[in-house]
Amino acid sequence: MAGRTKSGGAADGGAAASGAAGAAAPLRYQPGFGNHFASEALAGALPQGRNSPQRCPYGLYAEQYSGTAFTAPRHANRRSWLYRIRPAAVHGSFAPLESGRLASRFDEVTPSPNQLRWDPLPVPRAATDFVAGLTTVAGNGSPDQASGCGIHWYVANRSMRERFFCDADGELLIVPQLGALLVATELGVLEAAPQEIVVIPRGLRFRVELKERAARGYVCENFGAPFRLPDLGPIGSNGLANPRDFETPVAWYEDRDGDFELIEKFAGQLWSARIDHSPLDVVAWHGNNAPYKYDLRRFNTIGSVSYDHPDPSIFLVLQSVSDTPGVDAVDFVIFPPRWLVMEDTFRPPWFHRNVASEFMGLITGVYDAKAEGFLPGGASLHNCMSGHGPDAATFEKASRADTTRPVHIQDTMAFMFETRAVIRPTRLALESPQLQRDYQRVWQDLPKNFSPAGPPPRGRAPRAPGGARGATGKRRTV
Ligand SMILES: [Fe+2]
Repeated sequence: MAGRTKSGGAADGGAAASGAAGAAAPLRYQPGFGNHFASEALAGALPQGRNSPQRCPYGLYAEQYSGTAFTAPRHANRRSWLYRIRPAAVHGSFAPLESGRLASRFDEVTPSPNQLRWDPLPVPRAATDFVAGLTTVAGNGSPDQASGCGIHWYVANRSMRERFFCDADGELLIVPQLGALLVATELGVLEAAPQEIVVIPRGLRFRVELKERAARGYVCENFGAPFRLPDLGPIGSNGLANPRDFETPVAWYEDRDGDFELIEKFAGQLWSARIDHSPLDVVAWHGNNAPYKYDLRRFNTIGSVSYDHPDPSIFLVLQSVSDTPGVDAVDFVIFPPRWLVMEDTFRPPWFHRNVASEFMGLITGVYDAKAEGFLPGGASLHNCMSGHGPDAATFEKASRADTTRPVHIQDTMAFMFETRAVIRPTRLALESPQLQRDYQRVWQDLPKNFSPAGPPPRGRAPRAPGGARGATGKRRTV
């Protein structure tokens, strides 16, 4: 335990968090995505006019924390300068740690083209913190190649106090589904409840406290380029996830000595080192390589107001770009509450096969393409070219719906980690009792409706420009 504890919030009006970050006053954030922020928890701690003065204020050490190559283009370059009580190098030797249910190799099982779905992972009874509760469901690429991602569940029932974690393999996109988290990092404290997300940059040290008795959620461990906001093209200068709604914490530190453990994920393996102080000792910092949070309910959802609906790329929140223009390595996509107003349109997501691979999760409510079986906390995997779409009940209901009236989809929040490469499930996920071994049945009740001599389809023909009916009078199909 800590022999000495002292902590401080931001001198620039930020949170006065205590050593137990959970007891903090309302947290303060700096708005904007990828901004060059500046924050200090003690007045005058941030050097002015230079990054590395001969002597830093308050006897602090200066340390650069890079998230991209030094020579990355300016618009993609991420780095911060940290002014801390001790440099990050001060800790004991790392030794391998049993990685438990965490995996970074995705070649142990040959993936099948079968559609897969899982029930939620139960919160364990045994004491489990955020790191111990990480369970790898699937992934692709590898941290060695700096491409691809790991997809994990987390379940937890206790806070981290004496353990700290950092992931040198990738950036962590944390999607809480059950229970709010308090994430204390080197650069400040963030709180995230279900329907909010937190992104922790590669290599940032942090610990997770639980705001409630239990926590569960999803993690995308992004091995590739850091997540960024997508370009908007013809949408214009506003829309989708607006930059000002992203929030980065103000500086906060704890001056806490004790017998602590620093756990690092490096090259696919967990490592453990003793550390005699809290590594969350950054008193001031500036730069743009920093954690952030985002409330998914602030997403400005774009959709059709005539007929059909756009490709789901319209729901893109964050992207990790690949070396091929227009092709992302990892996309984070959400399906939030929204109005559906399209006339003579099958309004749920259509049947489709994509070149991309799709891992979906449900944070709350019901996903509009599945009447049942896709549960909050559960997951589905539809890999490259695997056919999928609405289940039979949803198809039947949507095919008969009155599309002259708008429908408000409410109380839902689903998301997708979509990747360029095939998402390969782990053996543990395929053998888990949560796997729904009858998932494919959701499509087997879809009847054969085809009849060459049958009546014309119901519904109205799309209006041609000028308000006239389409020339053929036939219903368009997707
Ligand atoms: Fe899909």
